[in-house]
Amino acid sequence: MSEQRNLVEVKDLLVKFPIADGGRRSFIRPVDHVSFAIKPGEVLALVGESGSGKSTIGKALVRIVEPSEGTIHVNDQDVTHIKRRELVAYRRYVQMVFQDPFGSLNPTRTIEQHLTFPLKKHGERGTNVSTSVDELLERVGLTPVAETRVKFPHELSGGQRQRVAIARALAVNPKFLVADEPISMLDVSIRAGILKLMNQLREDFNLAFLYITHDLASARYFGNRIMVLYGGKVMETANSDELIRHPMHPYTRLLLAATPGSGIRGALPETSNKAPNLVEGRKGCPFSDRCPLVTDICREQDPPIVQVSETHTTACHHV
Ligand SMILES: Nc1ncnc2c1ncn2[C@@H]1O[C@H](COP(=O)(O)OP(=O)(O)OP(=O)(O)O)[C@@H](O)[C@H]1O
Ligand SMILES: [Mg+2]
Repeated sequence: MSEQRNLVEVKDLLVKFPIADGGRRSFIRPVDHVSFAIKPGEVLALVGESGSGKSTIGKALVRIVEPSEGTIHVNDQDVTHIKRRELVAYRRYVQMVFQDPFGSLNPTRTIEQHLTFPLKKHGERGTNVSTSVDELLERVGLTPVAETRVKFPHELSGGQRQRVAIARALAVNPKFLVADEPISMLDVSIRAGILKLMNQLREDFNLAFLYITHDLASARYFGNRIMVLYGGKVMETANSDELIRHPMHPYTRLLLAATPGSGIRGALPETSNKAPNLVEGRKGCPFSDRCPLVTDICREQDPPIVQVSETHTTACHHV
């Protein structure tokens, strides 16, 4: 896989949002100089706790959010600031699946209408549309297709609705899917089925994924690589097994300690419910106010990115 060209290349991505700070205008940086690449057919799992900037990275990639600095290249095209027609064309390559399938489907439309719309928008006509709807429903396991076509979203289970959302994303034949916590709102018993489906799509279409999750266990199952985010910055990136077996960053170790069955023990620091500080102008490592290894340098200077091995990097003053 390593000789293959990158499908997605993100360099030094920065996303800022204005916030009201006692009447003064200031900014938060939920994505703070993040870089990564994804190859065709590869799954990069993006892990981190609430508020660490995961969804904002996903939204910047599908260009729902405008990047403030840095570049995004997909399929060798610079898509960082594309608009209008270029953006419509781009959405044939890249689609997003959201956490809440009910919220992302229209309650007044049938499943067939949900799938017909993107097919027509991207040029399919006549009986081809109907055949493609059937193929898509079969692809995501919503059979018998004749029954599913005429249903409304509220007549399906959560897992079935998420399958419709995935089918709709597939309608344009994308090369890359951003899946933002696609299983976290689903019943535990049906999560594995959705993960298996995505894994099958990866194999069958050589589809690449940015898989966003809180959960290291599913990241390990589905991800080829895992990238750990905290406070808008990348703490550690490695091949999935390597990251789970040999975590280097104190934050990764803390996440693993909180994952049942990981084999790593350690109490969570008392401040573990404190949200990361994203305010522009904060200094040093974003994890420094929770880190058990913290020293003065951590509060003052951004940690350098240390290359642990060819496929493993971490950003910590103490590794
Ligand atoms: N459009 C916006 N305007 C202002 N602030 C925003 C906007 N979108 C997100 N934020 C803020 O950016 C920070 C990161 O949000 P983001 O949704 O990317 O986190 P996340 O890692 O996906 O969290 P979660 O696990 O809860 O989904 C949060 O503090 C959030 O409030
Ligand atoms: Mg999110």
